[in-house]
Amino acid sequence: MAKQNDELMEKLVSLCKRRGFIFPSSEIYGGLASIYDYGPLGAELKKNIKNFWWRWMVQKHANIVGLDSAILMSPRIWEASGHVDSFTDPLVDCKKCKQRFRADLLENESVCPNCGGELTQPRQFNLMFKTFMGPVEDTSHIVYLRPETAQGIYVNYLNVLNSSRLKIPFGIAQIGKAFRNEITTENFIFRTREFEQMEMQFFVQPESDQEWFESWKADRMAYYHKLNIHPEKLRFHEHGSNELAHYAKAAYDIEYEFPFGWKELEGVHNRTDFDLRRHQDSSGKDLTYFDDATRERFIPYIIETSAGVDRTLLTVLVDAFEEQELEKDTRTVLHLAPSIAPIKAGIFPLVKKDGMPEIAEKIYRLLSPIYPVYMDVSGAVGRRYRRQDEIGTPYCITVDSETLENETVTIRDRDTMEQNRMKIDDLSIFFFDKTQS
Ligand code: GAP
Repeated sequence: MAKQNDELMEKLVSLCKRRGFIFPSSEIYGGLASIYDYGPLGAELKKNIKNFWWRWMVQKHANIVGLDSAILMSPRIWEASGHVDSFTDPLVDCKKCKQRFRADLLENESVCPNCGGELTQPRQFNLMFKTFMGPVEDTSHIVYLRPETAQGIYVNYLNVLNSSRLKIPFGIAQIGKAFRNEITTENFIFRTREFEQMEMQFFVQPESDQEWFESWKADRMAYYHKLNIHPEKLRFHEHGSNELAHYAKAAYDIEYEFPFGWKELEGVHNRTDFDLRRHQDSSGKDLTYFDDATRERFIPYIIETSAGVDRTLLTVLVDAFEEQELEKDTRTVLHLAPSIAPIKAGIFPLVKKDGMPEIAEKIYRLLSPIYPVYMDVSGAVGRRYRRQDEIGTPYCITVDSETLENETVTIRDRDTMEQNRMKIDDLSIFFFDKTQS
């Protein structure tokens, strides 16, 4: 089973490279450990995942607004948030083979899992990347690359509140890059040193924290179901007291069963008033909220939902990947939800004559301003279908001899491989219906 799972990951990594989803970063210079670049199809898929999340969190909730804060922020933020002191992992080295490990991920903290050698005592290693602001490289000029986007939201909470008509409960959402100098990186894009997060901080009355925590847990699970992830491969994992982050009172991970085991996909955290209180104490700014209805003043509690873009992308690829043994060959197919598929339709003239390429071109011009579509004129039509199946294109439109008579085309469904005829004039509404999230 483990071998099969390794093979599955190998096939997926190879498909991602071959078809232009994901490339190792700086490859012509030998690569840079655990940093990846997204190719043409990967960039589309990533953008679609972010849009899907934004629509679900911001557009569909009247009381959630968006934000785009800077990556570089005052270093005082990371002192107040506790990251300078506490955002650490325990690091151990093997005295024999010199490999490095995260002690908390090892079964036996004193024996090297690689060569059986003796491991050093764990020492705490801070995960934040540091750089210097301005030309002077001394400690008073240190700035950090943010390890989470959340802090950008907390320090803008007053700005958002004062510039909008929001009342508690309300949320602020943002998508952006985060950086962690991870000790061990693993499993392709699962754990990398540069990644993107999609985080939402929901500000609530202190007494209602548990209720909102449960509500967001349910909402976030429903989101993954809507993303077409197999429900039986998703579960909650409650953090024990030894797993809780320094800011959390309670936390659940939404886990996915990857080929390499059940792993965290997203965290839902009750951060209490920890962050706002720390920023209030540290900045001297009043971050309390006055509730008109109850005439009470308090520091809001925060329920956080924190998902990784790259990890979601890996999840949807793993979950969608299938190899089907057909009579004559093997069909590789990605069953991606149409709303996030990088290409929505392949457009094929059956043959390169009789005016079919011209009609296909017309269909391309009709759909391409709104939907990414791909025109393929060469090779047997079966092979053209396969090329689209492998990258998750949900539909293929074929112009054939009947098109010349009645302005209809065949539309083939990737998952069922069934073909139906449809009027060219109905294509726009069909794609509008099918690609909504
Ligand atoms: N603001 C809370 C926070 O950052 P986290 O559990 O450390 O919580 C949230 O991270 C999510 O960010 C994870 O569930 C994962 O999807 C993503 N993530 C965290 N570290 C990552 C890494 N090194 N590479 C890829 N994604 C990562």
